[in-house]
Amino acid sequence: MAPLTPRREFLTSSVKAGLGLYIGSTFLSSCASSRGIANVPAQYTTGFNQQPLPYAYNALEEAIDAKTMELHYSKHAASYATNLNEAAKAEGVDASKPLEDVLRNVSKYSTKLRNNGGGHYNHEFFWKCMTPKASSGPAGSLANAINSSFGSFETFKTQFSDAGKNRFGSGWAWLLLDNDKRLRIASTPNQDNPLMDVAEAKGFPLLGLDVWEHAYYLRYQNKRPDYIANWWKVVNWDYVAQRYQSMI
Ligand SMILES: [Fe+2]
Repeated sequence: MAPLTPRREFLTSSVKAGLGLYIGSTFLSSCASSRGIANVPAQYTTGFNQQPLPYAYNALEEAIDAKTMELHYSKHAASYATNLNEAAKAEGVDASKPLEDVLRNVSKYSTKLRNNGGGHYNHEFFWKCMTPKASSGPAGSLANAINSSFGSFETFKTQFSDAGKNRFGSGWAWLLLDNDKRLRIASTPNQDNPLMDVAEAKGFPLLGLDVWEHAYYLRYQNKRPDYIANWWKVVNWDYVAQRYQSMI
């Protein structure tokens, strides 16, 4: 083969470098997506049975009264778990596997499984998103990510609150990490959530807010914005940050 001229050598090197970059970025992108919402860290997976509430019914009085917590946990959320297990049995779903596996393919199952699987997952998650020992906001890498994604923590809070206030009827507001590892705010109707293949905004939930009337009506009646404003006082930012840290 004839020796390469300086120009041909430069072009050949450039093509090789470009190919390397392309292969490298494709490989990295493939790794990133394989670590996406398909792989929820084991400590954040959800089983099919209701777990104990992580605090007393009256522990979040600053935002949610004890009677609402009791009814919400022991009646509403409990029935989602019961109905989920009924639906899972009827549809041959292995209830020893993480619930996330079903939610990611929920369009293949019945409406009963979708509503109650979502209802159970969302409530198990919601309890953990709150704590009587709440801090005023996130710290560390989550705080930085919120600031760079939304401009400021206050802007994030406004946008998230609006997602909850503007959800027509029953549903949820979410902060989620999408498959490109970007923070997003979204809202879902009924008991849908961002893990579901039917969700408009898909991703890993980092923070969830229940805006069904059963979550606030006893104390706040029709004033959903007042419930949301008080709810910020009990958000468990340590838990939200841990979930974020586990996925980035
Ligand atoms: Fe609820």
